[in-house]
Amino acid sequence: MTNSDQIRLFFKKNKAISASAIADEAGINPSAFRNFLAGDRNLPEKHLPALLTTLKKYGFKEGETESRLIAVLNHKGGVGKTTTTMNLGKGLSLLGKKVLLVDIDPQANLTQHCGVAHQVEKTIVDTLLNDEVLPILEIDTNFHLVPSELALATAESQLMSDVNGWFKLKNALKFLKSNYDYILIDCPPSLGILTNNAVLASNDVIVVVETEYLAISGLGTITKHIDGIRRNSLNENINLMGLLFTKTNNTVVSKEIVKELSTVYKNKVFKSSIRRNISIVESAGNGTDIFSYAGGSHGAEDYMNFSKEVLEK
Ligand SMILES: Nc1ncnc2c1ncn2[C@@H]1O[C@H](COP(=O)(O)OP(=O)(O)O)[C@@H](O)[C@H]1O
Ligand SMILES: [Mg+2]
Repeated sequence: MTNSDQIRLFFKKNKAISASAIADEAGINPSAFRNFLAGDRNLPEKHLPALLTTLKKYGFKEGETESRLIAVLNHKGGVGKTTTTMNLGKGLSLLGKKVLLVDIDPQANLTQHCGVAHQVEKTIVDTLLNDEVLPILEIDTNFHLVPSELALATAESQLMSDVNGWFKLKNALKFLKSNYDYILIDCPPSLGILTNNAVLASNDVIVVVETEYLAISGLGTITKHIDGIRRNSLNENINLMGLLFTKTNNTVVSKEIVKELSTVYKNKVFKSSIRRNISIVESAGNGTDIFSYAGGSHGAEDYMNFSKEVLEK
């Protein structure tokens, strides 16, 4: 990653830091600096030393690979969170990124989707309850998984009585972050303590939306929840990366929902969406990703386009 890319990423991850203020302090024309951050042009070399000195005061670390942590969220089940975590992760790894998936759902669907059918010795439960290091399984090249298990369901109440209960995942990921370009966390279908662990550890949130009337009610609850976490200084930099529509089809209902939500959430809606596609269901049943299972399917095409869009964010 070049210096310029790192600086752009630093601003994406630290929304509270004002680009104009930094430009002023480093003696750079603010509008030229904003164009640079938007990726429209490069910054003349002569500005770099002063800029780096200023940025370091705000926590920028030169040369350190910064990973992007993304929570994949919706308090409803069956909307496509696990499918998206799996296939976005695999898509990013195919695009050359090093990816870690984290399964923080007691149903352990992501673990199964990764083809881990056998009992594993350690899971995320050992980290959340006993502060052990996160156990990592190598699923494929540059594609790793922290597995989950059903015992996580009973761990929730124990976590709630722990004063650090909300911060367990964040603390555990601190030691791992620099090893990965992307860390994707698959949340359970609730806004409880497990999802909060994911949101507190993340820079970004992707909300997966199934295009059915029932599935869209309650979207406001999610955005309010994220705002609450930001306002209460639990994670001031948390950013809603966007809404991803899944299982879209040619019905009037599906099209209406896409239209309606695109008006309300505007630039917070991903341009790519995921069509309803049977190969996606089959790939999950086979314990593999859509690219390995059916590389020529609509599902593979849509998840690759989505992965490219996430790379640009
Ligand atoms: N684009 C799609 N087309 C068809 N079926 C899908 C699609 N995305 C997900 N599914 C299926 O829908 C079900 C729920 O998806 P899943 O990702 O497990 O949802 P969640 O994690 O939100 O509970 C699964 O059977 C999955 O294979
Ligand atoms: Mg799931």
